[in-house]
Amino acid sequence: MELTIRAATAADAAAITAVLQAAFAQHPHSQNQEYRLVEALRAQGGLSVALCAWQGEQLCGLVCASPVQLPMSAEGWYCIAPLAVLPALQGQGIGQQLMQAVLHKLQAMGAAGCVLVGEPGYYQRFGFSADPALTSAGIPPEYVLSRAFGSQQAQGEIIYHPAFAVLES
Ligand SMILES: CC(C)(COP(=O)(O)OP(=O)(O)OC[C@H]1O[C@@H](n2cnc3c(N)ncnc32)[C@H](O)[C@@H]1OP(=O)(O)O)[C@@H](O)C(=O)NCCC(=O)NCCS
Repeated sequence: MELTIRAATAADAAAITAVLQAAFAQHPHSQNQEYRLVEALRAQGGLSVALCAWQGEQLCGLVCASPVQLPMSAEGWYCIAPLAVLPALQGQGIGQQLMQAVLHKLQAMGAAGCVLVGEPGYYQRFGFSADPALTSAGIPPEYVLSRAFGSQQAQGEIIYHPAFAVLES
């Protein structure tokens, strides 16, 4: 079925929560609090990008981005998180289309680049790589990934939007 990607609306909130809870239920490094992260980012004005993938009436995946601070880099960096696809629909390229869409959106917004924490084996296809100069507290460096849109590289320790505190609670 044809896939449509469009900006999330307030009416999508319950379906977004359902997709996130299903997608992260079996994730080995998740406490399944990603739905709370999206709620907190929305409530605190940190949801810079929220894109949903639809097949007909079914919301089958989403990707979000929020601003980060990199003390050793200039402004304009974002964190891509979360990215999720309904388990039954994974492996069909929906994640790839969501990633391409969020990267296009961030570039159109004039972003300097983006960071994320994830499997390098998945994200390298989108131009992400690890760099020892970029860190995230408590995360092994090989999972701290970035992609610059210009010549400026991401460096230093990532300071996430305050809404990320929900992942610690
Ligand atoms: C990660 C996720 C969004 C990918 O969505 P998807 O629609 O299945 O992705 P695509 O169909 O575009 O790509 C599938 C490819 O990614 C690979 N892949 C998926 N998860 C991977 C992982 N954790 N590590 C390495 N490769 C992975 C698959 O093996 C497949 O490879 P292939 O193209 O060589 O066959 C989805 O698996 C998901 O929601 N997972 C649970 C939540 C999660 O882990 N989110 C990311 C947190 S960083």
